[in-house]
Amino acid sequence: MLNFTVITLFPPMFASPLGHSILKKAQEKGLIAVRLVDPRDYTTDKHRTVDDAPYGGGQGMVMKPEPLAAAIEDVKSKSASPRVILLSPQGKSFDQAEAQRLSQETELVLVCGRYEGVDERVKAFVDEELSVGDYTLSGGELPAMVVIDAVARLIPGVLGNLDSPKEESFTEGLLEYPQYTRPEEFRGMKVPEVLLSGDHEKVNEWRSAMSLRLTRERRPDLLAKARPPAAEQKATATGRRLYIALLHHPVYDKNGEIVTTAVTNMDIHDIARAGKTYGLRGFYVVTPVKALQRLALKIIAHWEEGYGSRYNETRKEALALARVKDTLDDAIIDVERECGAKPQIVASSARPGGNRASFAHLRKMLREESAPFLLLLGTGWGLTDAVLAQSDYILEPIEGGTAYNHLSVRSAAAIMLDRLLGRD
Ligand SMILES: C[S@@+](CC[C@H](N)C(=O)[O-])C[C@H]1O[C@@H](n2cnc3c(N)ncnc32)[C@H](O)[C@@H]1O
Repeated sequence: MLNFTVITLFPPMFASPLGHSILKKAQEKGLIAVRLVDPRDYTTDKHRTVDDAPYGGGQGMVMKPEPLAAAIEDVKSKSASPRVILLSPQGKSFDQAEAQRLSQETELVLVCGRYEGVDERVKAFVDEELSVGDYTLSGGELPAMVVIDAVARLIPGVLGNLDSPKEESFTEGLLEYPQYTRPEEFRGMKVPEVLLSGDHEKVNEWRSAMSLRLTRERRPDLLAKARPPAAEQKATATGRRLYIALLHHPVYDKNGEIVTTAVTNMDIHDIARAGKTYGLRGFYVVTPVKALQRLALKIIAHWEEGYGSRYNETRKEALALARVKDTLDDAIIDVERECGAKPQIVASSARPGGNRASFAHLRKMLREESAPFLLLLGTGWGLTDAVLAQSDYILEPIEGGTAYNHLSVRSAAAIMLDRLLGRD
């Protein structure tokens, strides 16, 4: 049971949100109770004044401290262990983790400001300040309703289906996957086939992949905070923290000039497929040329969402690893966001010389260390000296025992993946 007390100048505003659906039922079941307290009832003057002009001048009015403090003190004196929260745009951001935390409380007191806000000295009477977003609302009532709704639905029994809060957006730190209901086809748009398959394992896989993809595209900031899904946790535990970046720039051409090479369909496909086979965490195609980025995205989308995805499901899974970035630095930042740690950079070069890390050494590091690793593959005539110099390691060259050494980048990628992640 969670008791909310809302201190507000406009108690009638709460009637509608509390009088319908889930919040109404939660009160009827005795899982939450909401009491509304008007600070005007704590004024001592004839006009029941709750606001006054700001010291120092300026627009609008400020909520006077006496009625608010008296209301808070009165509420506190009648509760066992109240936690008093002032809704304020200057407060800490209210998010799902905050909602979880507050759902463990038994008495929450929500203080709503109005006008230009509350006298600063009221803050001495509250435990914390919470903001519902980086915008200014006219009063704390809507934020208080947001808090009540988000917190109440986490209390066991409030939602009919006990499992549903676990699957929603933000609960695992990720955005939720897309949802569909009947009809199967609406104005030419079909429900993804996997959802009609009845194969729960496949449905779950699709949902986690979509969840991850949506979050990566729309809210990469959430990934850094997110707990990795079970499958990824397992992969992380076995040392699979490897990413590959295929650099189309900066690389050398055959004359030793620094150039940008073209994106190719075959490289994207083959490296993604080999990557998926060996449990690679992500595959970056790096090119600063917008037209080539569009081409790469078109190739990926064809197999992920277009005709190709229906033609060949397995190709789709592999292409889901691919991400397009402008620069190597962008790829590094992306890994850091996803893993919460900077990757160790491992360059590869067919040219002999330099201080080389052996495959065995890198394999061991992948198993034993917790840091992510980003393996750089060059196109054209290979990675530039500047890129090699900024890397933490340069991997030993692959040698076939002949004088001829001209592997395609996708063949080299497959061999490297096998040596680094393949079974012993
Ligand atoms: C117009 S606002 C006051 C804004 C204040 N002058 C400022 O710039 O910070 C009036 C009241 O609305 C509430 N409020 C407005 N935006 C909010 C937000 N994003 N989160 C939480 N409360 C908010 C607060 O209770 C605030 O005291």
